Amino acid sequence: MRDNYLDPTVSAERRASSLLEQMTLKEKIGQLCQFVGLGPMEEGQRLAESNDDDSTAVYPDLRKADVLRMTERGEIGSFLSVQTQEEADTLQRAALRSRLSIPALIATDAIHGHAMLKSGATVFASPLTYSFSWDKNLACRIAQATARELRATGFQWTFSPNVDLALDARWGRCGETFGEDPLLAGELGAAMIEGYQDEGLNGESRVLACVKHFIAGGDPADGLNFSPMDVSDRSLQEFHFPPFKKAIDAGALTCMAAHNEINGVPCHGNEWLLRDKLRDDLGFGGLTVSDWNDVARLHSLHKVAESFDEANCIALRAGIDMYMHGPGYFESIEKQVLDGRIGGALVDEACWRILMCKFKIGLFEQPLALGNSETVVLCEAHRDLAYESARESIVLLKNENEILPLKKGSQRILVTGPCADDQSILGDWALTQERDLVTTVLDGIKNEAGSGCSVFHSSSGAIEKIDDEAIERVSRAAAKADIAIVAVGENGLRDSVSLRTCGENLDRSDIELPGRQLDLIKSIHATGAEVVLVLVGGRPLAIEWCADNIPAILFAGEPGMAGGKALGKILFGSVNPSGKLTMTFPRSAGHLKYPYHHRPSKFFRTYILSRHKALYPFGCGLSYTEFEYSSLTIPEEVEYGDSVSISLTVKNSGKLAGEEVVMVFVTDCYSSVTTPVKLLKRFERVLLQSGEALRLEFTLKFNELELLDENLDRVVEPGDFQVRIGYDDCLVETFRVLEAGAKLLG
Ligand code: GLC
Repeated sequence: MRDNYLDPTVSAERRASSLLEQMTLKEKIGQLCQFVGLGPMEEGQRLAESNDDDSTAVYPDLRKADVLRMTERGEIGSFLSVQTQEEADTLQRAALRSRLSIPALIATDAIHGHAMLKSGATVFASPLTYSFSWDKNLACRIAQATARELRATGFQWTFSPNVDLALDARWGRCGETFGEDPLLAGELGAAMIEGYQDEGLNGESRVLACVKHFIAGGDPADGLNFSPMDVSDRSLQEFHFPPFKKAIDAGALTCMAAHNEINGVPCHGNEWLLRDKLRDDLGFGGLTVSDWNDVARLHSLHKVAESFDEANCIALRAGIDMYMHGPGYFESIEKQVLDGRIGGALVDEACWRILMCKFKIGLFEQPLALGNSETVVLCEAHRDLAYESARESIVLLKNENEILPLKKGSQRILVTGPCADDQSILGDWALTQERDLVTTVLDGIKNEAGSGCSVFHSSSGAIEKIDDEAIERVSRAAAKADIAIVAVGENGLRDSVSLRTCGENLDRSDIELPGRQLDLIKSIHATGAEVVLVLVGGRPLAIEWCADNIPAILFAGEPGMAGGKALGKILFGSVNPSGKLTMTFPRSAGHLKYPYHHRPSKFFRTYILSRHKALYPFGCGLSYTEFEYSSLTIPEEVEYGDSVSISLTVKNSGKLAGEEVVMVFVTDCYSSVTTPVKLLKRFERVLLQSGEALRLEFTLKFNELELLDENLDRVVEPGDFQVRIGYDDCLVETFRVLEAGAKLLG
């Protein structure tokens, strides 16, 4: 007796099998096909003539009516880059008119809120920015809120989290990641997946998460997106795979392959990667989706397929289940199945996984918008969360002579800089929002300054507009100011009319402040006004002169729609800054790559003519209070196989309440192969009132001490290990793993 696939009490797996049995070949292939939404399709056709790369979707000769008819025939199983609730509704209703009424997956890149929705949505701090909070619970709640706004508007799939390790600040996409550390990327990615796919929200607000990009796109050879990755198996195993393992263990239901090749084989045609590694080794059971046009690029870019047909065949065989995006794939697969070049079982396998995912998130029960978008999208709770995402994440990098927090007395405060009064604080994968929904840097300062201060704005113009005239004009204003708050950096806002300098495919050959921002800062500094620098953007910048000469520097990242509010409160002291960097600030592009977890020999020799130490190291971030660490207690010796108990006391010895991130790193002092100078093993964010002390306990499992020996086998080698507390090793103790047990365990 065949299961009833419409019965929600039956498991998703069995419902998928039952439905698959009833489908024709065409209907099965249709599930593998993803198109862009109607808006991007029509935009693509308008841009077709001027379109010199394939970053816009161009479906020649297809009109909206054609796509709706194909959908009604069950030849399209998903849509991405859908821009409005209405579009989602139109597409979904067409899918529901298909013979078996299989709903489509409506997808978007909602990586820090449903921020690509044309009608607006809550825009949280970008992933790199809220990673500075080191707050897993915050990441989960951002994902839950995003999922609520997605399902409220008829969307069920987000291409998030991006757990690429950001190892190169030239890469435009650092802002989408959680930084350079594999543990932190994995933990925050897993927290987001739990939030997106959360059963707790009475089910109807679950969406499919998508862990991406598999694999190693964040460590491009030359900082350029797509560029080849020549990466050792050791690096893959030590750094790139672990965040995906954590995400898969957290239940990620979809995974996106990476644009790039690794070691000569493009990810999209890499059966070892997509089947042996992703599925057999890491245990992934969901659907794998291609990235944008990357199946076709096996032919057009990587040149490993002599035709698009061959590319499609290679990708399906390698393990790509869903094709992003557009026409041609359907016919190609159908033809190759019918002529025997592709086994029908490959189509069944891919289709089954897609159906299983659709059942998993209740798509058959709830294919359309939940009808609550009015009360859910941009609701007060979400906007409060957006504020929290900024408040917890902004990093105070420098505060000489405690110039901050600013006094609310009678001061003349100039606010200027290209990021002071625009929406660059939203970051990439976000559209410009309604003005009154965004608190800019200038807004936040004006709201917080209090009546005694006179706050005035002198516009420098956008990044690309800063010229001699603007510099002179702003400097004249600065000469009348006691304090000059200068908001500079980069602009990743996806639909910005000004120059975008960071974000997807916006990679740079240097990481200086773009344009003449540094000239602007120097000129203002020369007037004698006390300069407070506010850095905006989705990556570390080489601000060596500023670090040497400017007394106060904050890295706001891309703090989202409430970023200015959080910044204002931090500048005037009603909020105590607590963000800690998750990506090292190198002194220049020439210093790259420079993750904290480098090998011991990295700086055996250093540069002539330039300093080599990080401008601002991984984990740093100042507070308006002080934290003291003491009484680090660890065993002197550890029996082979035993866990390691670590305890320590952290005290707020300052006058203000504050939040601290306690970081526990471990070093394998001597090993048969080289190992990182240290690796993060635990972290915990704690709130401490002035004078309050807290005893924290951590337990490392024995296998967390393991390394990959020269054969890449996992082993814990006896000998000395160091426990190092804080980004700056404020406490260090050594323990020894005893030899004895090692022999017993062989
Ligand atoms: C892009 C990105 C990917 C994104 C996809 C859909 O090329 O690489 O991260 O999810 O296309 O927009």
